[in-house]
Amino acid sequence: MTTSPSLTQDELKALVGQAALRYIVPGEIVGVGTGSTVNKFIDALATVKDQVRGAVSSSVASTERLRAIGIPVFDANEVEQLGVYIDGADEIDGQGHMVKGGGAALTREKIVAALARQFVCIADASKLVDTLGRYPLPVEVIPMASAHIVRRFAALGGTAALRLQAGQPLVTDNGQHILDVTGLSITDPLALESEINQWPGVVTVGIFARQKASVCLLGTAQGVRILTY
Ligand code: 5RP
Repeated sequence: MTTSPSLTQDELKALVGQAALRYIVPGEIVGVGTGSTVNKFIDALATVKDQVRGAVSSSVASTERLRAIGIPVFDANEVEQLGVYIDGADEIDGQGHMVKGGGAALTREKIVAALARQFVCIADASKLVDTLGRYPLPVEVIPMASAHIVRRFAALGGTAALRLQAGQPLVTDNGQHILDVTGLSITDPLALESEINQWPGVVTVGIFARQKASVCLLGTAQGVRILTY
């Protein structure tokens, strides 16, 4: 497909949201992520909603959108396996490792991704990077562990800041807080994900290396590039 070089980021998101429809398995339950790119996917899903049995969603926000278009949303505990999980990313590298959590939904995103045979990442071209770490790394933490975790990131050369919303700590769908960490160059995503996961008080780190993308639909000025990993 050839597109105009003047497409906006929003239009690129709509392009990949639409392209993701071809990964849906008719009659099955689809895993649905969170964010502005996924919102485009949900808009596209509305046009073929009779083809899916329902969805498992990674956030309250996506659940509300899915229900608004008439798609039944199942609890993750009701589903043993999903054919596909479709979600965006804040960054994705050449191996399909991602940084996610810009929308604060990283924990549920990892849970739903773990149920799926295939992770299809949908992203505009600005998200493709050589090395993860330019985008602040989101980490969901239990509030009483925040200061300790900030110090552990400082020891790694990172600066962790509590995410705020309207001047107050943002509270996730799981009732926890988010730290956003700058100054890290994530050259070994698997190792760093494992290390941070061990720290007491870390609920989820936004490095998706163990549950990396199997496919990325990348919206570019030339159309949708399909990257497989
Ligand atoms: C939410 C996420 C999103 O996938 C990520 O932030 C990308 O969002 P957008 O599609 O709005 O750019 O991880 O927690």
